[in-house]
Amino acid sequence: MSAIARIGIVTVSDRASAGVYEDEGGPAIRAYFERVLTSPWEAVPCLVPDDRERIARTLIDLSDREGCCLVVTTGGTGPAPRDVTPEATQDVIEKPMPGFGELMRQVSLAKVPTAILSRQTAGIRGRTLIVNLPGRPRAIGECLDAVMPAIPYCIDLIEGPYLETDPALIQAFRPKK
Ligand code: MTE
Repeated sequence: MSAIARIGIVTVSDRASAGVYEDEGGPAIRAYFERVLTSPWEAVPCLVPDDRERIARTLIDLSDREGCCLVVTTGGTGPAPRDVTPEATQDVIEKPMPGFGELMRQVSLAKVPTAILSRQTAGIRGRTLIVNLPGRPRAIGECLDAVMPAIPYCIDLIEGPYLETDPALIQAFRPKK
């Protein structure tokens, strides 16, 4: 168990990776964890185009080489031809965690009817939890607020570092032994 948690933050966007516009999603995810986590952690940020192989290679690298306990992606979860983040995620995970996508879509649907267009999913690769978020910066907080209470215990179960959250913002739930 390493003392400092490493969190991979992957922005998936053809245009942001080509410099057509600035990446807002990656910084929004970083700001979210800066606000919510009280235990030590560091970000491993990446910006990749909507290319299935490039995304998959990045996820493998963050899991196997960079030793991230958690990898959060943003973008590429919709129905458009270039949206392939869930496929790339499925290519690399060993255990699907469908509850994450189900819950995030459910809470998002209360905010926006197009939430059903996101195919966002999650899964485990080795000692890494990989979670997809939609590309809209607004969706990041909405989705992470929903799943964050269960993430520290999920990381415990895959033998990762002990994540602690500010209880005023997120009540991390750990079942009593
Ligand atoms: N979820 C939340 N919470 N907020 C949003 O604004 N946008 C939706 C959906 N999920 C949205 C959301 C829309 S418009 C799309 S097309 C899908 O996410 C896929 O977005 P992506 O391709 O950028 O990942």
